[in-house]
Amino acid sequence: MSIPRLALAVLLCGATLAAQPKKEPPPFGGDYPKYWLDVCARCHGVNGNGRDNAGSPLPDNGFDFTDSRKAGRKKDSDWVRITLEGKEKMPAFKGKLTPEQAQKMVTDIIRPFGARH
Ligand code: HEC
Repeated sequence: MSIPRLALAVLLCGATLAAQPKKEPPPFGGDYPKYWLDVCARCHGVNGNGRDNAGSPLPDNGFDFTDSRKAGRKKDSDWVRITLEGKEKMPAFKGKLTPEQAQKMVTDIIRPFGARH
């Protein structure tokens, strides 16, 4: 391939990437706290309360996981399902997380947010 054609190919490639919706979540690398911070915290907050570090509500926050009273009424199975299937603004993570990984996310990351309060 000549240099100009290579440059064109690279350009087209970049344009295609840029045109892709930003919504597509990145693949899971096996580190649950990291995935929470990299992917979920954008909407749910680092601490699971749906707020940014300054304490303001995040635009797409869904549920205050630190509200132990409300969280206590939620079933793991529903949380796993919502994580996999999505709900309203919440993206679906099936294809990124297996049901077992989604369960671990609920047990190891999300449940402890409520237990701290
Ligand atoms: C684009 C924003 C966004 C991202 C990213 C996001 N969520 Fe959500 N999530 C929401 C919204 C909004 C809701 C509330 C949906 C509803 O119940 O109406 C929600 C709800 C949930 C619920 C159910 C809470 C309830 O209502 O009982 C769980 C569990 C959950 N998210 C887990 C996660 C996990 C785990 C991740 C990362 C792998 C994640 N979310 C990433 C926006 C997001």
